[in-house]
Amino acid sequence: MIIAADPERDFQAANHLTVAPVVTLSHVAKTYRAGSENVPALRDVSLSIRSRTFSVIVGPSGSGKTTLLNLIGCIDTPTVGTVAIRGQDVALLNDNALSEFRAQRVGFIFQNFSLIPVLSAWENIEYPLMLLGMPAAERRERTTRMLEAVGLTDKRGHRPNQLSGGQKQRVAIARALVKGPDFVLADEPTANLDSRTGADIISLMRRMQEEHSTTFIFSTHDDHLMAHADETFSICDGQVVDHVTRGGSC
Ligand SMILES: Nc1ncnc2c1ncn2[C@@H]1O[C@H](COP(=O)(O)OP(=O)(O)OP(=O)(O)O)[C@@H](O)[C@H]1O
Ligand SMILES: [Mg+2]
Repeated sequence: MIIAADPERDFQAANHLTVAPVVTLSHVAKTYRAGSENVPALRDVSLSIRSRTFSVIVGPSGSGKTTLLNLIGCIDTPTVGTVAIRGQDVALLNDNALSEFRAQRVGFIFQNFSLIPVLSAWENIEYPLMLLGMPAAERRERTTRMLEAVGLTDKRGHRPNQLSGGQKQRVAIARALVKGPDFVLADEPTANLDSRTGADIISLMRRMQEEHSTTFIFSTHDDHLMAHADETFSICDGQVVDHVTRGGSC
């Protein structure tokens, strides 16, 4: 069958790819149980994260940022409401499908770097590809490219304890991106860094987000780090209290 060229359809398809939400939360609440007490961490949160954006969740300590990222990364489940990734309600996936989804499609960057201490920088970056069973030649090619992209080729054999905080976070960024995930979650990636190194790490994440056309969602309680964000969600006491899209308020 021959399908006639249709520039309008192609335009709409390309545009859809750019603007379709990668994550949608609808009326999400999360309540933790601590002893006999219920702790409401998120209340009635509805938001969408557009594909290929650099999105920031900002709020004071205890406001619910980590809880929100854990729900988006399918590490935890909501008490009420739905979390959909590219339109798929994740509550309908079984444990195996969820683990596979996390391994293949989500990159994680943590505040404390969470590198494997006995592995070199190169091996830390390669590790998620081994878990995916990728052939050695492709692993080598991707790992080399990512190490170079984060400017650490000369540190390839160094273990985490032989790297500075900023260098460790660069390895963690490379590790999160090496598998080509749908989106990358970073929970306060600059909290353990001095302000200058923190600003460098944010610039690097922004550059990597643009070069890899991926979606970055990160949390911070430092509002100085939000200058480059496409979307900023302000959270307070478990509720989204403000949402600003670059170029205007929503
Ligand atoms: N496992 C848990 N059990 C009980 N309460 C919890 C649990 N995890 C978080 N909380 C509570 O939920 C609320 C939100 O916590 P969360 O860790 O999401 O905040 P945060 O914005 O990430 O804070 P921070 O900036 O300090 O990391 C807090 O009141 C916290 O005490
Ligand atoms: Mg937190």
